[in-house]
Amino acid sequence: MAGNETFRCYYVTKDAQGNVRGDVTSRPIAELPPGDVRIRVRWSSLNYKDALAATGHPGVAKTLPHVPGIDAAGEVIESNSPQFRAGQSVIVTGYELGAGQWGGWAEQIRVPAEWVFLPPESLSAREAMILGTAGITAGLSVQALERQGVTTDKGEVVVTGATGGVGSLAVKLLAKLGYRVVAVSGKKDKEPWLRALGAARVIGREEVSDSTDRPLLKAVWAGAADTVGGKTLATLLRSTQVGGCVAAMGLVGGADLPLTVYPFILRGVTLAGITSSWSPHAVRQQLWQDFAGKWKLEGLGDLAQEADLAHVGEFVPRILTGQITGRVVVRIS
Ligand SMILES: NC(=O)c1ccc[n+]([C@@H]2O[C@H](COP(=O)([O-])OP(=O)(O)OC[C@H]3O[C@@H](n4cnc5c(N)ncnc54)[C@H](OP(=O)(O)O)[C@@H]3O)[C@@H](O)[C@H]2O)c1
Repeated sequence: MAGNETFRCYYVTKDAQGNVRGDVTSRPIAELPPGDVRIRVRWSSLNYKDALAATGHPGVAKTLPHVPGIDAAGEVIESNSPQFRAGQSVIVTGYELGAGQWGGWAEQIRVPAEWVFLPPESLSAREAMILGTAGITAGLSVQALERQGVTTDKGEVVVTGATGGVGSLAVKLLAKLGYRVVAVSGKKDKEPWLRALGAARVIGREEVSDSTDRPLLKAVWAGAADTVGGKTLATLLRSTQVGGCVAAMGLVGGADLPLTVYPFILRGVTLAGITSSWSPHAVRQQLWQDFAGKWKLEGLGDLAQEADLAHVGEFVPRILTGQITGRVVVRIS
């Protein structure tokens, strides 16, 4: 029983003047949202969406006070669902965790049973959080490219926001699968890092950001995995080969899409939308298995830096300004 127990969390509040702040504080268990499974969180992670939540962005943190953290890994404390029992290792990523509902930057979460995954035994909780939502998203984008017939012999596949969490995992996974990966990055000094992940070439952001109004550009890419959106996504769609596919995952560069229908009707390009939060449970359970098996990424630890709960707030402005390289895992307890 929870009793008067409390848990530490990163608690985002807004004062009477409208100033949003985040502090590590203790809250009563009774304040956790309703749910079937209460989980002791060991590891979480930092994602772009978490930084939006930590700064009170109403599109993510639907109400304040709020606890960010769209990823969590730990053990079941108690469960009303026959599917789970106390002591079991579990993972939760996406759904409303850390968005509509309090998230994983906390010693405890309480969630519906349908949100909970059993990790493969060979994947540690820390490794699972290096992957986290970013890994699931990268995995879904690779599945989308494969589904559209983008095979390794078709040509180069481009990944934007390549040093970011989703981008770096997409580069590493595509390279592992034998694709010739072109990494797009604004961080010129990270070229050796991106090559070590498996990128065959590294190019600057300006090379995939066309400002002309030409409906089609030279067809160069077999496929693309895009975290940037806006003009970059439009440029990629206009420069993808006949029958190619662009997986749209993010919006760090903008939410608009200045485009005509020509890439679709003259080149048969597919725009594949990716949502990790609401992809089916069975699809994600299989992705976790894949990451422990045929997609096992060697040297995953080299991709991550660590923050503890007390210091995660310091990373928030850095991720919002695109300054993080790779993944940040958050040590909770
Ligand atoms: N669809 C989904 O299910 C899903 C899931 C997870 C994340 N996302 C979205 O994917 C995006 C990336 O998330 P993340 O957690 O990987 O963030 P992240 O770690 O901050 O990575 C974003 C990267 O994008 C690049 N970048 C930043 N600002 C840019 C700009 N103005 N123009 C062009 N490139 C810019 C930077 O890489 P370089 O310096 O190397 O260029 C940055 O490291 C976000 O929009 C997030 O909301 C979507």
